[in-house]
Amino acid sequence: MLIPKQAVLAAVTLCAGIAFAIQVPTSDQISLSTGNDRSDVLSGFTGVGNEPRAYRPDTSSLDFVYHNHDDMTRYLRATTARYPNLTALYSIGKSVQGRELWVMVVSASPYEHMLGKPDVKYIGNIHGNEAVGRELLLHMIQYLITSYTTDPYIKWLLDNTRIHILPSLNPDGYAASKEGTCDGGQGRYNSRGFDLNRNFPDYFKQNNKRSQPETEAVKEWINKIQFVLSGSLHGGALVASYPYDNTPNAKICRSSSTCAVFNSYVSAPSLTPDDDVFKHLSLTYANNHAKMSRGVACKSASPSFENGITNGAAWYPLTGGMQDYNYIWHGCMEVTLEVSCCKFPPAYELRKYWDDNQLSMIKFLAEAHRGVQGFVMDPNGGPIERAQLKIKGRDVGFSTTKYGEFWRILMPGVYKLEVFADGFVPRDVDFMVVEQHPTLLNVTMQPSKRNDGPYYRPVQQPAQSQYRPQIAAPGLPGSGGINSGSPADEGILSTLSNGFNSLVNNIFG
Ligand SMILES: *[C@@H]1O[C@H](CO)[C@@H](O)[C@H](O)[C@H]1NC(C)=O
Ligand SMILES: *[C@@H]1O[C@H](CO)[C@@H](O)[C@H](O)[C@H]1NC(C)=O
Ligand SMILES: [Zn+2]
Repeated sequence: MLIPKQAVLAAVTLCAGIAFAIQVPTSDQISLSTGNDRSDVLSGFTGVGNEPRAYRPDTSSLDFVYHNHDDMTRYLRATTARYPNLTALYSIGKSVQGRELWVMVVSASPYEHMLGKPDVKYIGNIHGNEAVGRELLLHMIQYLITSYTTDPYIKWLLDNTRIHILPSLNPDGYAASKEGTCDGGQGRYNSRGFDLNRNFPDYFKQNNKRSQPETEAVKEWINKIQFVLSGSLHGGALVASYPYDNTPNAKICRSSSTCAVFNSYVSAPSLTPDDDVFKHLSLTYANNHAKMSRGVACKSASPSFENGITNGAAWYPLTGGMQDYNYIWHGCMEVTLEVSCCKFPPAYELRKYWDDNQLSMIKFLAEAHRGVQGFVMDPNGGPIERAQLKIKGRDVGFSTTKYGEFWRILMPGVYKLEVFADGFVPRDVDFMVVEQHPTLLNVTMQPSKRNDGPYYRPVQQPAQSQYRPQIAAPGLPGSGGINSGSPADEGILSTLSNGFNSLVNNIFG
C-alpha cells in the first residue's frame, strides 16, 4: 500500500519534537504511481556534466562542534521538521545501549523510492572513536538542503538520487570516546567490545564473531533498500580503500613458508572483477579532496598511498568488513573513506575537514549515475523481480528490484549483460557505456516453454539468501561458497594474522 505523501508529512508535523521513528520504507511503500513522469529517467541526467557551484560553508544553523547523541538527534529532528519536502528521518534500529541508529534521507522524494533512480548511502562512525565522518555527514545534510534552490548541480543530484545518511553506526562507542584522542582503540568498538567492521559475514573466511545489533540493523537495511553506491567514513588515515578487504590467503600461503613473513602477506592485493570501477570511485574521492590524492603518509611510520587510494587487502586484510559484504551480497559498491589522520581531532579543526571533503563527498555520490541502468520485464511490460544479472567477465552478480529495476556502475566500454529469471529464457544483451550519461537498457524476457528443460543458471539462489552472496563468483579465488576456506584458514596462520590485524587496527583506521 502506498502511504500518501501528505499523510506522512502530516504525521511528521504532528510528531515534531516528540520521539518518533519512521520505519524503513518497505517495498510496500514504494509505489509505481509515485507521480514521477518516467521521462524523468531520461531527462534527469542532463545535469551530470555540470559542476557543482563554488562551495562555501553554511554555518547558519550547524556549528563546527561535535554533536553528542542528543544534540545530533535534536539537529536531525529540527532539520526534517524544517525541510519536510527534502528530508525524512528514520531509524534502522538501536545500538546495544539503546541509542537510535538514525538515517536521514535527503532527496526531492524523501519518502518514496523514485522509479528507475538510484538509492545511495553514507555511513559514518562505524568505529566510535573516528568522529570526523560523523560531523561531516551532518554538514553534508545541511549543505544539500540549503543548496537545493541555489545550486543546479545539487538540485539535479537530489532530483535524481535518494541519499541515505547514517551519521553514526556506533553511537555507544562514540559516547566512550574522547575529543583530542588521535590514536588508540578506546571507543572504537561497540559497547560489548565488538569491532563492527569485523562483524559482517565474510566471503573468504568463516566469521565466527557473534553478530551485533548494529550489524544486524545494517544487514536488514541493505536487504530492504537496494543501494547502488556507498561510502563508509573512517579516521586514522587519509586514503580511499576499496574491496576486497579480505583475501583468500590460503591460496597465497598454503604452500609457502613465506607465509610467516607478514610483509608479503599483508601487501598482496585482493582485487574484485570490478577493480576498474572501484579504482575510479576511489580516485573520484581522492582527486576531489584537498590533499588525499597527494598520498602523503600521516606519520613517518605509517604507509603512504599512491594517488591516495589503495586496495583494502593490500593495505591490510581483514575478515568481516562491511564493504566486502555490501558488494558480494547486495551488489552495492562501497568504498572505505579514511578522512583524517587524527581519529578524534579537536573541534576547531572540523571546519577545515569539511572544506577538504565537501566536494569529494558530493562527486562520489554522483558516480551512481555512471554505467548502465534499466528494467527487466516480461513481454507485457510487467516487471520481473529478483532477476539475476551479471556483466559477462565480472562474476559478482546483482539483481532486480521489485519493479524490475537494476543499476550497475561501469566505465566506458562495450559489455554483455547476462540475465536469468525463473520461468524465462536466459538472455545476453550487448550494450555500450559512454562517459557522458548512463546507458538506459530495458530487457524483455520470453517465458520458457515447459519442454525447454531447465536452463543453466550461474548458481542457484542459496536458501539463506540474506547470509550468502546472491551469486557465487565462480571465477574468483575462494569460490565454492562462504566457507570455502581451505584448512589453512582455520590454522595457525589465521590466528597469527588475526592478532596482527588487531595490532594494525589500533594503529590505522
Ligand atoms: C524502459 O522501461 C521503462 C519502464 O517500463 C520506461 O519508462 C522507459 O521509457 C524504457 N526506456 C527505454 C529506453 O526504452
Ligand atoms: C513542499 O512542497 C509542496 C508541494 O510542492 C509545496 O506546496 C510546499 O510549499 C513545500 N513546502 C516547503 C516547506 O517547501
Ligand atoms: Zn575505522
